Amino acid sequence: MTDQRQGRRPWLVGVTGASGTPYAAALLRGLLAAGRPVDLVVSRAARLTLRDEAGLTWRDDLPSLRRWLETPLDDTLPSLPAEPWDVRIWKVTDLAAPPSSGSYLTHGMVVIPASTASIAAIATGLSRDLLQRAADVTLKERRLLIVVPRETPLTGITLRQLATLADLGVAVVPAAPAFYSKPKSVQQLVDFIAGKVLDLLGVEHELFARWTGQLGG
Ligand SMILES: Cc1cc2nc3c(=O)[nH]c(=O)nc-3n(C[C@H](O)[C@H](O)[C@H](O)COP(=O)(O)O)c2cc1C
Repeated sequence: MTDQRQGRRPWLVGVTGASGTPYAAALLRGLLAAGRPVDLVVSRAARLTLRDEAGLTWRDDLPSLRRWLETPLDDTLPSLPAEPWDVRIWKVTDLAAPPSSGSYLTHGMVVIPASTASIAAIATGLSRDLLQRAADVTLKERRLLIVVPRETPLTGITLRQLATLADLGVAVVPAAPAFYSKPKSVQQLVDFIAGKVLDLLGVEHELFARWTGQLGG
């Protein structure tokens, strides 16, 4: 708790087992590049998507995070934020970890990518692991919660659960990149979504070119 007495107030990032781990990597790079403290929780199923999409064996430690963030998605090498990084990585099974309590101060939480299973758990207050509990805490403490669902097509079940979350003030940011910034690479498509999340967090970034009002510009 010493960190918190010194005023450390992180953004909590929860990574669940939906396809789309590059979205989480881009968000983490953006937060760390802006010098923001981050607390990270990776779900059990996200270990599978990290293995599949980044070729990574996730170990809830800094070397795993470094390997993940330096993994290229296409032929653009991602630029790693300057170290040291202010990151704390919690085990998803550790229900006693600080983010389990509202007394642990955070700015809020981003679940990225958000599986339909996690959306269901958050919308019903299930709190079966640290990630789900931290999302429930974020809601009860009236802090900003953002979910980035990645599934298509969506069932009526998920649509109703997303509407429940939106009614509670949760920002629902579907992993649906836009094309007005004329993306030239897969990384730029991914960065668009991470940039939209950073906008909601109030964190400055240059992850995409903003709309200028110029059609075809
Ligand atoms: C390789 C892989 C890809 C998956 N992709 C998705 C997906 O895009 N969206 C989704 O909602 N679930 C997806 N799943 C299923 C979730 O991982 C599964 O529902 C799991 O229970 C989610 O648990 P979690 O929310 O605790 O991470 C995928 C699973 C695997 C193994």
